[in-house]
Amino acid sequence: MKILITGGAGFMGSNAVKYFLKNYPDIQIVNLDKLTYAGNLENLKEVENDFRYKFIKGDIADEKLVDEVVKDIDVIINYAAETHVDRSILDPKAFITTDVLGTYALLEAARKYNIKKYIQISTDEVFGSINNGKFTEESPFEPNSPYAASKAGGDHLCRSYFKTYGIPVIVTHSCNFFGPYQYPEKLIPLFITNLLENKKVPVYGDGQQVREWIFTEDHCRAIDAILQKGEIGEVYNIGTGNEIPNIEITKILLKKIGKDESSIDHVKDRPGHDRRYAIDSTKLRKLGWQPEVNFEQGIKQTVDWYEQNEQWWKRIKSGEYLEYYKKQYQV
Ligand code: NAD
Ligand code: TYD
Repeated sequence: MKILITGGAGFMGSNAVKYFLKNYPDIQIVNLDKLTYAGNLENLKEVENDFRYKFIKGDIADEKLVDEVVKDIDVIINYAAETHVDRSILDPKAFITTDVLGTYALLEAARKYNIKKYIQISTDEVFGSINNGKFTEESPFEPNSPYAASKAGGDHLCRSYFKTYGIPVIVTHSCNFFGPYQYPEKLIPLFITNLLENKKVPVYGDGQQVREWIFTEDHCRAIDAILQKGEIGEVYNIGTGNEIPNIEITKILLKKIGKDESSIDHVKDRPGHDRRYAIDSTKLRKLGWQPEVNFEQGIKQTVDWYEQNEQWWKRIKSGEYLEYYKKQYQV
């Protein structure tokens, strides 16, 4: 089986490339990634010489290139996206281009070349905020940030390509990811690396916003289960039940890294900040999946990784990494 993983140089995409190569000896993987600020070929060092793996630098919104790449592909898993809510508030255009038009280009190629399965990696953020209960796969989309709105646009296109053209699409909505290799702009890696650098951590508003968290490997296993057993045209929520307010996560990290609450900087809230995300993943669990890493274990592994891989995140935070890997990888 030949899988196209888009955005395979990003956080979850690179974890997925490594997961599939490790678990499927006969697999071939093509990684199409534009290498935006969030793409980092260092994430893929351990597989870069694997004969089953090929990297192509390019944009999923480039229809001509995508057509060329998808020609001999069996399965597409679309991880590529602009993903950071704060950046989407400052500059939404790249989000619309990649998350909507990029998805369109991939779906068109999937249609032309009779792809066997197309999996869209999406987010619970498309549903908006929920005070009580959980979102199900049938909940209406009520996106509140330009990021969530662009992801919702891509997801709607996926649904329409299944309904209209019979393209074998499956859409997934996951809760928040965490784990090694996450770009240090998102809550957990930003806070860990700030604390390791003896800097303060910026908690937005009252810090009582709740997110549900999934560790990298559990997300990879969920996508694997969906690839093997998921039903075409269906939507699957990926959730763990690990719901934690931001301020609690902050305190866990302070304790782990040996800091006190004087390292917290209470800053202005994010505009349109969703209060709580929570999703019902009963449907996915019926495929035999369940999370295997609890939050405590995952956060320990994550903090340990950032402690042991200082060079990786220091290069990113100093801005040197783009130049570094351009030189290193000639891309
Ligand atoms: P990331 O920001 O770490 O990486 C995104 C990758 O996509 C990068 O390698 C980047 O270079 C690449 N990319 C961006 N635009 C591209 C384009 N036009 N063409 C080709 N490649 C492009 O992302 P992540 O946090 O690993 O998220 C992966 C996917 O999972 C995204 O689709 C995101 O919406 C979804 N998701 C993320 C979370 C989360 O908590 N991070 C939760 C649920 C769903
Ligand atoms: P983030 O990691 O950006 O993911 P998302 O917005 O997609 O859920 O943020 C997670 C939560 O942490 C969210 O409620 C915003 C909050 N947050 C902070 O309080 N401070 C920060 O510096 C960041 C990046 C996030």
